[in-house]
Amino acid sequence: MNRVVINADLGQQKISRHIYGHFAEHLGRCIYEGLWVGPNSEIPNTRGFRNDVVAALKNLNMPNLRWPGGCFADTYHWTDGIGPYEKRPSMVNIHWGGTTENNHCGTHEFLDLCDQLSSPGNVCEPYIAGNVGSGTVKEMAEWLEYITMGGQSPMADLRRKNGRQDPWPLKFWGVGNENWGCGGNMRPQYYADLYRQYATYCRHFSQGGKLYKVACGFLDEWNDVLMREAANYMDGLSVHYYTVIGPWDKKGSATDFSVDEWKLTMQRAQSVDNFLHRTAKIMDRYDPTGRVGIVLDEWGTWFDVEPGTNPGFLYQQNTMRDALVAGLSFNVFHRHAKRLHVANIAQTVNVLQAMILTEGSKMVLTPTYHVFEMYKVHQDATALDTQVESPEYVAAVQPTPNPAQAGVPMAWDSTQQISASASRDASGKMHLSLCNLHHEDAAEVNVDIRGGSASTVSGRILTAGAMSALNTFEKPEAVKPTTFDAFKLSKTGLTVSLPAHSVVVLEIQ
Ligand code: AHR
Repeated sequence: MNRVVINADLGQQKISRHIYGHFAEHLGRCIYEGLWVGPNSEIPNTRGFRNDVVAALKNLNMPNLRWPGGCFADTYHWTDGIGPYEKRPSMVNIHWGGTTENNHCGTHEFLDLCDQLSSPGNVCEPYIAGNVGSGTVKEMAEWLEYITMGGQSPMADLRRKNGRQDPWPLKFWGVGNENWGCGGNMRPQYYADLYRQYATYCRHFSQGGKLYKVACGFLDEWNDVLMREAANYMDGLSVHYYTVIGPWDKKGSATDFSVDEWKLTMQRAQSVDNFLHRTAKIMDRYDPTGRVGIVLDEWGTWFDVEPGTNPGFLYQQNTMRDALVAGLSFNVFHRHAKRLHVANIAQTVNVLQAMILTEGSKMVLTPTYHVFEMYKVHQDATALDTQVESPEYVAAVQPTPNPAQAGVPMAWDSTQQISASASRDASGKMHLSLCNLHHEDAAEVNVDIRGGSASTVSGRILTAGAMSALNTFEKPEAVKPTTFDAFKLSKTGLTVSLPAHSVVVLEIQ
């Protein structure tokens, strides 16, 4: 028996559109090849960025894009990425494959990308992660002056010399990344002090401009110290949560997996709920009014790289399993609408749970891309209280929780077969997202709409014959959304028939 109750008159909290954010790091083929091919490439591009990739991403209403890392951020010196290309020094990407990069995609290029990804109805806000691990306070302060100073100043003059008259709009600013690990191996008290020092000089130089400053969080103990010492100086606390189902050196194949691996993936993805609850509880101690937001600026699946690819490039394929993780995660995120201000999937192109994969001039949209596209109706909508009653759905063999990996303890909360969330948009339309996590069983779901009614319903579905179905360069449309009409209106709501491993979004009026 599967039952979903929507309390359609109990919505208060807005689902920030920024939880549908993205992350593009100088890692593997994400920036170089995936997004940036350079203005002289034969691949059609606009000022160096691929037209096909930009057009596809624009269709997602990308609310923000985080850059340049990740671990890369704390090795990046922004002045290497400005000015004429021939004068930019190259650098070694020490974290990701030891490759040498030419710094052609720098500040001007990234901010141009955000412009290209914006459309009349949607601004893609840049979210820049500054360098704490190997940088200086002066370097970070000057970067902000370079980007945001409208009047005259040494950095604004330098920007103009490099071809940009006006400052750029800038909202999100990260003070380091994973400074407990790749960003300097710091201890919490030390980082908390450094954060306070850096944040003091992180200013928005444009009149009326305000930065949303993000401090680097981690696990409970670290977050407690940081919140205690620095909550007053931050707007957001960054935490990361990856869906990893094996030990670091054996995370499993992205495409060839067992039923139990499928189930564990769902359990692990669902456990982000617990992680967000725990983090919010710690924040409540020092920020009882809930001013500081959780910024989940890295999340998604992390499997073994595709055979034969560079292990430092984190290139993985993407199947219906990833699509269900995306749908299930957003259903959880919507429940945390109050504290969760920002979330960024890792990563946009060719890395981890990507939206898009590229090979030379070819491009393919992943099943995850389609979930982001279907769910975009929830951006800035009001979350509606949604209760789910559904059988437990867990792996036969439960792993014992083991020490933290990828920044989070390995939790294995149990999942229900059905995951759901609902919201009402500004025009009054209700949207209900349903995921049937079951690898092989269909499910009938009774949707009870309280405090509201349904007279017209339409929908779309993402599913495929096999749980491991995917899109390839040869078959790019094997998995794509289609119209969904397997529902019946009833007096109190509707009955929906969900195929196995499917994601459905209904529009209800
Ligand atoms: O997304 C890949 C890496 O994962 C990021 O660079 C880092 O922040 C995290 O550990």
